[in-house]
Parts: sequence; C-alpha cells; structure tokens
Amino acid sequence: MPKVIVPTKKVLFTEEILQDPYPAYARLHEEGPLHYLDVDGQWALWSIVSHAECSVAAKDPRLSAKRSQQMILSLPLSRQSEFSELARMLGLWLIFMDPPEHTRLRKLLNKGFSPAAVEGLRPQVEAIVDRMLKPLQPGSEIELMREFANPMPVRIILEMLGIPQELRDTFVDWSRAIAVFRGSPDRTVEQARAAQDALIALTDFFQKTVAERRRHKGSDLISLLIDIEEEGEVLTEEELYAQCIALLFAGHETTRNLIGNGMYTLLRHPQETAELREKPEMIRTAVEEILRYESPVQFTARVLKEDVEICGQHIPKKWSVLCMLGAANRDPKRFRDPDQLDLKRLNNQHLAFSAGPHACIGGQLARLEGQVALLNLVQRFPEMKLTGPRPEWAPTFGFRGLKRLPVIM
Ligand code: HEM
Repeated sequence: MPKVIVPTKKVLFTEEILQDPYPAYARLHEEGPLHYLDVDGQWALWSIVSHAECSVAAKDPRLSAKRSQQMILSLPLSRQSEFSELARMLGLWLIFMDPPEHTRLRKLLNKGFSPAAVEGLRPQVEAIVDRMLKPLQPGSEIELMREFANPMPVRIILEMLGIPQELRDTFVDWSRAIAVFRGSPDRTVEQARAAQDALIALTDFFQKTVAERRRHKGSDLISLLIDIEEEGEVLTEEELYAQCIALLFAGHETTRNLIGNGMYTLLRHPQETAELREKPEMIRTAVEEILRYESPVQFTARVLKEDVEICGQHIPKKWSVLCMLGAANRDPKRFRDPDQLDLKRLNNQHLAFSAGPHACIGGQLARLEGQVALLNLVQRFPEMKLTGPRPEWAPTFGFRGLKRLPVIM
C-alpha cells in the first residue's frame, strides 16, 4: 500500500482571489501541477492546475462525475440529511452522471445540439440581440449585466425550451440560487436551502410544462425530448424534468458570464477591440480567446472511484479532485504569454468547455451567442467605456462573472 503524503494546505478560495485569481494561478503553476487546497479552514481538496493533467483527468474513467452527494459534505454533519433531496435531484443531471447512464442520456440530448440545430438558431439569436440593443442609446449610462448580459442567454434558452418569457425573472432567481450553491466550495446551510427550494420549484414547473407539451407538441427542445422518449429510448419522467432544469441553468448561468467577462475584457483592451471592430471576421478567434482568458467556469470536480496516482501523488478512493479549468487556461506550458490577451490566438485549445465525455454539450450554442452579442456590442457602440470603480466579481468561485458592469454606451 503506497504511503499517502498529505502536504500543507494552500489557501486559494479568498475574497481577494475571487476578484483576481490570476497572480495566484501563476504562482501555483510555478510550484507544480497539483496542489492541496484549503476550503474554509475545515477541509481540503486536491486541485489540478496544469492544462495537460486537467485534460487527462477529465477523460479518466477512474474519476467519477457523480459528485452531488459530495456537494453537501461541507454542511454541518447534523444538517446534511435535510438536503438529501437536493443531492438526489442534482444527481439526475447529465453533468453528474457516469456511464452507462451518462452515455445513454448524452446520446439522446446530442440530437438537440447538433451543429445544424445550433446553426438553425442563428436568426433567433441575431433577432434577440438586435431587439435588446436597439433601445440602448450611444452615450447613455447603463449597467450592462442587468440590461443585456444577464437577460440575453436566458431569453434564448427559454425560447429553445418553448417557455414564456414572462417567467424569466423567476427562472433567473432560481438559477442563481443553484449557481451560488454549486459554485462555492464552502457551501452553507442557507445556500443549500435556497438551492433545494429552487430545484423543487423548477421540478414542479417542468412537471406541469411537460404534461402540457405532450398535448401540444412544438419544435422546441422539450418536445424533442418527449419525442425521443416516445421513440422508446429510456428517459424517465424525472430524468426529463432534470435535463430541462439543467439546460435552463447551464444555458444561462455560464453564457451571461461569457458576454459580461468578454465585454469587460474588450473594454480594458481598446486597441485589440478597435482591430476586432475593423476586422469582424476575427470574432471567432476573439471569442475563443475570451473563453480562455476569463473562463466562465473556473473549475469542475471529480470523485475518485479507486485509489489513483495523479501527477505522482497517490490519492485515495473517494477523495474529490478539482480540475482548475481557469488556471489550466493560463498554463504557460500550454499557452505562450498566457496572461496576454491575443484575440487572434491560433491553436487555442482551451478547456473552458472542459474535455472528455462531459465536455460542454452547449459549447457551439454558447460560441454562437458570444460571437453575435460581442460583435454587435463592439460595432454598434464604438465609444463604449467602463465607468465607476473596478467592477466587483460575483462571490462564486466556480462560476466567474461580474456582479455589475456599469458602462457609458
Ligand atoms: C460560455 C458558456 C458555457 C461554458 C463556459 C460552459 C462550460 C461547461 C463545462 C466546463 C462543462 C463540463 C463540466 C465537467 O466536465 O464537469 C459543461 C457541461 C455542460 N454544459 Fe456547458 N457551458 C456553457 C454553455 C452551455 C450552454 C449554452 C448549454 C446548453 C444550453 C450548456 C449545457 C451543458 C450541459 C448539459 C453540460 C453537461 C454535459 C455532460 O455532462 O455530458 N452549456 N459546460
């Protein structure tokens, strides 16, 4: 039996690092590919920062994506049983499944995210962006997250699911509660309570919506999932509601940060942005670079199914490991001048959408939304500037995004 050497815990999850994690990531890269990180002074996690090792870990079948039970372990032992429903409901999401369940469900869902299906959404995305930007006057002061980056992706995913737009604000509140719980390694009872309530409310909503959609099918994603189910593929009712919730969550919570982080980054790099304005064909590489440079998802986690050696360190079964995607995307061994924004960067094999069997199913849709939104903003508002003090980042380590982004249009 190999000896388990447990090193000293390093501190990463602090308020300061939430505002700017990159100097700390650079230090970690200098020190090595794997680190033992403190969580709230209570417990610790192994965390991989190297691009090569994160890619390997994301594809390693000995690492399980079933981690919804682990998420409640940071709660006081005496309170964990109150949240077994939360862990169970999250466990039905594709992202928290292992093969063979994951393989089966992913194959079914892929049908809704084929390149043709996503490209077919372009006119809808362009129309929504146009409708939202038209009323904004050049020179006016606005809070860009509230006016545009937050509502835009949720509009699109609601349209894809065929859900009325009037419910948008309620969904955003529910989604936020889940994001705060999921994105914090040091989760609290209050966060767990809010996330569990939101999941129960969402499940109730989708139960009614699916029943209604069975009676009146359309060309939306829910109807597609019902069709798949009726073709005889196994998708239980609960799984169906869970995927609707997961898509709503994933479609909104990350893409809004691609747009917010993207615009913040572009406004801080006026020369590069001027070039993009002149050469709009650069938008594809520009969005890839923004995904790398300010990744909306900073880490994902896995649980070891067996004892595994990672980066030369023996880690016992059942331990959680974080793949620090945001740090991997600044790995100097993978990217030349990783802290430099290069909107024309080639061979940009970032891990913003992770890798392996769980690689983001909505990556193409997010790219499309990011390209349309950012190019329109840059071209329609060439004088746009940041206002006020340095904007504040939301308190979710896992999901990097701005609380507010005040600008003059
Ligand atoms: C910029 C936007 C986005 C980013 C950065 C992002 C990032 C990610 C990442 C990192 C994962 C893999 C996590 C892991 O390995 O554990 C993932 C999975 C997933 N994403 Fe996204 N995502 C984005 C947009 C979207 C959109 C628009 C949708 C759908 C509407 C979506 C749906 C999903 C789903 C369903 C999974 C689970 C896939 C699986 O487990 O097989 N995402 N995403």
